[in-house]
Amino acid sequence: MKILIPADQIQQRVAELARQIARDYHDRPLTIVGVLTGSLIFLADLVRHLDLHLRIGLIQASSYRGETTTPGELTISPELLPELRGRHVLLLDDILDTGQTLVRLVERLQTLEIASLRTGVLLRKIGRQQVAFEPDYTGFDIPDAFVVGYGLDYNDEYRHLPYLAVLKDE
Ligand code: XMP
Repeated sequence: MKILIPADQIQQRVAELARQIARDYHDRPLTIVGVLTGSLIFLADLVRHLDLHLRIGLIQASSYRGETTTPGELTISPELLPELRGRHVLLLDDILDTGQTLVRLVERLQTLEIASLRTGVLLRKIGRQQVAFEPDYTGFDIPDAFVVGYGLDYNDEYRHLPYLAVLKDE
């Protein structure tokens, strides 16, 4: 495994993103909806920097299945979502790859009569997007490689690593 982004750089960037989000939402309550499972660590670190009127919700979406690094069919499970009607929502995911997951989730949340919707991702893979979609907050642009750590997994392993690493083919 090769370290792509060390832990201290991630922490620094998450704090910067939090400052930006705090500025943007200083005058309205915010609900951050994290996409399970990959955004868990990012969400937990980010919200601890935010001195705001804040609610947290979760939604599950998965497009990678087991021991494969290619996307499969997307399933969305909204059972864990709190009431979002009339709320200002920031949808938070770990990584923007093809963009299909976030686009589908945005479409889904927009059916819930929310007051506003923005999106944030920790990582955006360069040259992979299949849909024109620009997150409102992006942590890092990264090359097209399969990455693990800081919430991202391979077959549900490596999520606990405090840094981001590139998984080698073997
Ligand atoms: P799309 O293609 O819909 O993909 O933008 C978003 C979801 O795919 C997963 N994904 C990854 N997971 N390492 C991972 O551990 C990666 O390099 C990677 N690329 C995409 C992730 O679940 C994300 O939410």
